Amino acid sequence: MSKTPTSGHPQKLWGGRFAESTSALVERFSESVSFDARLYRQDIRGSQAHARMLAKIGVLSDADARAIVEGLEGILADIEAGRFQWKRELEDVHMNIEAELTARIGDAGKRLHTGRSRNDQVATDMRLYVRDVIDALIPLIDRVAEALLDLAEREADTVMPGFTHLQIAQPVTFGHHMLAWREQILRDKSRLLDCRKRMNVLPLGAAALAGTVYPIDRHFVAEQLGFDGVTENSLDAVSDRDYAIEFCAAASLILVHLSRWSEELILWATPLFGFVDLPDRFCTGSSIMPQKKNPDVPELVRGKAGRVIGNLTALLVLMKGQPLAYNRDNQEDKPPLFDTVDTVTICLEVYAEMIPHIVVNRDNCRAAAARGFSTATDLADYLVKKGLPFRDAHHAVGSAVAYAAQKNCDLAALTLDELKRFSPLIEADVYTYITLEGSLAARNHYGATAPAQVRAAIARARKRT
Ligand code: ARG
Repeated sequence: MSKTPTSGHPQKLWGGRFAESTSALVERFSESVSFDARLYRQDIRGSQAHARMLAKIGVLSDADARAIVEGLEGILADIEAGRFQWKRELEDVHMNIEAELTARIGDAGKRLHTGRSRNDQVATDMRLYVRDVIDALIPLIDRVAEALLDLAEREADTVMPGFTHLQIAQPVTFGHHMLAWREQILRDKSRLLDCRKRMNVLPLGAAALAGTVYPIDRHFVAEQLGFDGVTENSLDAVSDRDYAIEFCAAASLILVHLSRWSEELILWATPLFGFVDLPDRFCTGSSIMPQKKNPDVPELVRGKAGRVIGNLTALLVLMKGQPLAYNRDNQEDKPPLFDTVDTVTICLEVYAEMIPHIVVNRDNCRAAAARGFSTATDLADYLVKKGLPFRDAHHAVGSAVAYAAQKNCDLAALTLDELKRFSPLIEADVYTYITLEGSLAARNHYGATAPAQVRAAIARARKRT
């Protein structure tokens, strides 16, 4: 290859000091436009704000700034219409757009990058992008939470077994269980909003790493782009991606929650539990076993949680070895982030769509609650109320359970004489405590499972939203 050190490589926007072109292999290896083209909206918005600011401080003429803003608007329209030709040799989204702008408006396009570096440009794009994503996820989470509230209301009186260790523990209502799911997703929402608050500052102006010689007005740019303020330190501004990591951590927790719900639905949908039916359109059949109706949707959500957690790990490890300030490593933040965004979005969409159509088999839920001596604690508490120390009550009820298990019947199915064998304190009123309804109704305080409390919780939730 002939070296002509003074001419530079013409194709690259940074080619001035280069004597030979990038190897085709390196070009293919290092390009990011194949995935970061996805940032075009944020990139264009950021560039328009930057150009307006440069005009405001007198570094750009008004005419140039106008040409830039309008030129970018045209490029935006072409990208959205699928008319834009992305070029791998132009490396990334930033240089593709800038090169096209210059091709369209001439020298003004070449002035856009004054006082800016791709380092603070990509940092700005990324913050705008994560913020846009959070803003799109919030209404989706609200839909899921709302669907859970409706289902909870429909099943406020439905008795089902509550589990610990996946063993039948005490009766709860299905509505109470749905409200527990809702609490989880509402905390996920507040985590996203926290993340948004912390990340919503403008990094632009950091330039490559140290700031710029131009008298830039960063607050003017921040205001145009809807940031609450500007980053304090230029080295930090171009370097850290902790907000993307935080977002991926919040997304991982969303998927962890959805995965837990999925696990429950998968169990509940087997004929062995028979608590719920999932709508046919959310299930698939087997190519060999004609009787099968498989809960593929929850299974896939449970599976996709693994990807999202993996993406979080990828970002954490990507960051951990980097000295200040910008390193090209950071280009690798995008595939895991984008995959997380796509996955969390579709999983929430699927749940928002599916929850309203979950059919609860009330009889099966009730029968299961009646099977596991789920009111044994209620019998112990009954004896405590009659004066027996709790440990003695626990022991007496244990013996009663062993007896009933041998007879293969529930505690409430034992006769009063049978029950009296385990404690003379037991009287006829015991049955109001050891039935499923009695047990539920007795847990009648803020946050507990009594149907009246579930209804109160739903009413509070409806008032809040
Ligand atoms: N594609 C790059 C990234 O995602 C843009 C910034 C490149 N900056 C640089 N000095 N090479 O991080």
